[in-house]
Amino acid sequence: MSSTYENTARNLWYPGHMLKAEIAMKESLALVDLVVILLDARAPLSTRNPRLERRLINRPHAIIANKADLANATQSRKWEEWFLAHGEAADFLDASKLRHPDTLVNHWRDIVLSERQKRGATRPLLRPVRVMIVGIPNIGKSTLVNRLKLKNVAKVANHPGVTRSNQWVNLAGGQVELLDTPGVLWPQLRDKEHELLLTALGNIPDDSTDPVLTACFLIQRLQQLPIRNPLRSLDLPEISDNAQEVLEALALRRNMLLPGGRPNVNKAAQMLLKDFRSGQMGYFTLETPPAEDAPEEDDTDTPENA
Ligand code: G4P
Repeated sequence: MSSTYENTARNLWYPGHMLKAEIAMKESLALVDLVVILLDARAPLSTRNPRLERRLINRPHAIIANKADLANATQSRKWEEWFLAHGEAADFLDASKLRHPDTLVNHWRDIVLSERQKRGATRPLLRPVRVMIVGIPNIGKSTLVNRLKLKNVAKVANHPGVTRSNQWVNLAGGQVELLDTPGVLWPQLRDKEHELLLTALGNIPDDSTDPVLTACFLIQRLQQLPIRNPLRSLDLPEISDNAQEVLEALALRRNMLLPGGRPNVNKAAQMLLKDFRSGQMGYFTLETPPAEDAPEEDDTDTPENA
């Protein structure tokens, strides 16, 4: 695995303005007391950006594993335990349906105040706690910010030295201020497999990779999960071990045909990716906590039994 993988020209998704975004991020980080890191509950480590971690050394942060509604609930609990065992508490939630934003915001405030105490601060914090939310594209930052803002529409004046575009929003009755510019981080990729995983999850645009390749990767990944028939929602008479054949069978089953009657695997791939991302195929976690030795079990969460 190469640490310079992302800098290669073949990664068409890699945006040229990344450096600019990182500089803006660095400026914003200096202004906040707490960084809320958004991850995807279906692949918490693969959606985490190690470059950010280096900037966060000795700085309070909180973790949210978002889109937990699309993840396997049993696996989410294992991940929660894994994070706790590594000294971090991760909240698994569905930002799009966040019901009690104030509970979350007060929790963030408590983290900052308790960190201050641990560092030996004797004077009370006389200003609101400042928070920023960061994550890779499509992880749900805007969704979360919008949910937090629903009950907190009042914007506060910009702070001196802050980029003009940075707006602050009052939360929790003015005790917390949220930097209303979700911080975008570009994923730091390990290898092609990592790129395909993030494409399947929707963090990297589909048009940067052949959808058939992404869908085949996803099919293989789902078939490797320790669950019975993860592809049952496709309603195919039989499921081949070969991902390309699964796509062909799916195209035929859904009458997605090219001129001459050949299966339109491209269209089938796009449909499969869409269904996976919306939870139509069931709720899956594509990454298991490292070094776990839990016994294998069937813990599929389907829309019917979740
Ligand atoms: P970003 O700012 O980090 O780039 O992400 P954004 O909030 O735009 O969210 C990306 C997509 O993920 C959106 O769907 C959003 O609705 C969805 N999303 C965010 N959080 C959750 C969650 O907890 N659960 C689920 N199931 N979906 C979530 P979209 O299809 O791009 O747009 P739309 O459906 O909102 O129109």
